[in-house]
Amino acid sequence: MLNQRTLWKLEPIKKDVVYTPGEVALDIIRWVHPTGKILDPCAGDLAFLQHLPGADWCEIRRGRDFFDYQTQVDWIIGNPPYSIFEAWLAHSFELANDVVYILPINKVFQRLAIMNMIAEFGGIRGLRVYGSGSRVGFPFGFSVGAFWFKRGYTSREIQFRLTPVVGDAASPPAGGEQTRTDGFAGEGSSPHPPRA
Ligand SMILES: C[S@@+](CC[C@H](N)C(=O)[O-])C[C@H]1O[C@@H](n2cnc3c(N)ncnc32)[C@H](O)[C@@H]1O
Repeated sequence: MLNQRTLWKLEPIKKDVVYTPGEVALDIIRWVHPTGKILDPCAGDLAFLQHLPGADWCEIRRGRDFFDYQTQVDWIIGNPPYSIFEAWLAHSFELANDVVYILPINKVFQRLAIMNMIAEFGGIRGLRVYGSGSRVGFPFGFSVGAFWFKRGYTSREIQFRLTPVVGDAASPPAGGEQTRTDGFAGEGSSPHPPRA
């Protein structure tokens, strides 16, 4: 069985530990409204999990390897380790019908094998674009977006626009379902597991 310990010989790759700003995690959760059984497969510092009471979780640094997780869930949502994204996405597609990940956008389109895997699973139900990573608090400049992969989704048409960020005069709110007048909200309910 594929196991993280076979992928990381000694210790987690440091560049894979990139924390999602809490307001961005909440923005994504409000966008997709996950219900039923939810899994954050790489809880990190609880950016998503703190807004998903009752959700299950994995985190390799807390002894729960996602590649050992075999339970079917309705939703998977989070910010995966980028260096093993292909294997990570394949395992995600085995477990859930709706999979939502924030990523450097090029991770999805850089390999035909990844695009074929998505096409076999279904399709991209939505793409919420945040622009340059540094614009929303990531420590890199690559453009990032939240991808919503949906099993059996057959539309091949992706519509997206830059998601507005509070105080970002360069990106006035756009119309449609992605318009937000409230901006990013604050922190939510109490987290689990306890922060390290
Ligand atoms: C990009 S970070 C994101 C952390 C957190 N989800 C967030 O959004 O702030 C990726 C996380 O995946 C964790 N991770 C890497 N491989 C894992 C595995 N096999 N199972 C569970 N967690 C893993 C890392 O320790 C790290 O916390």
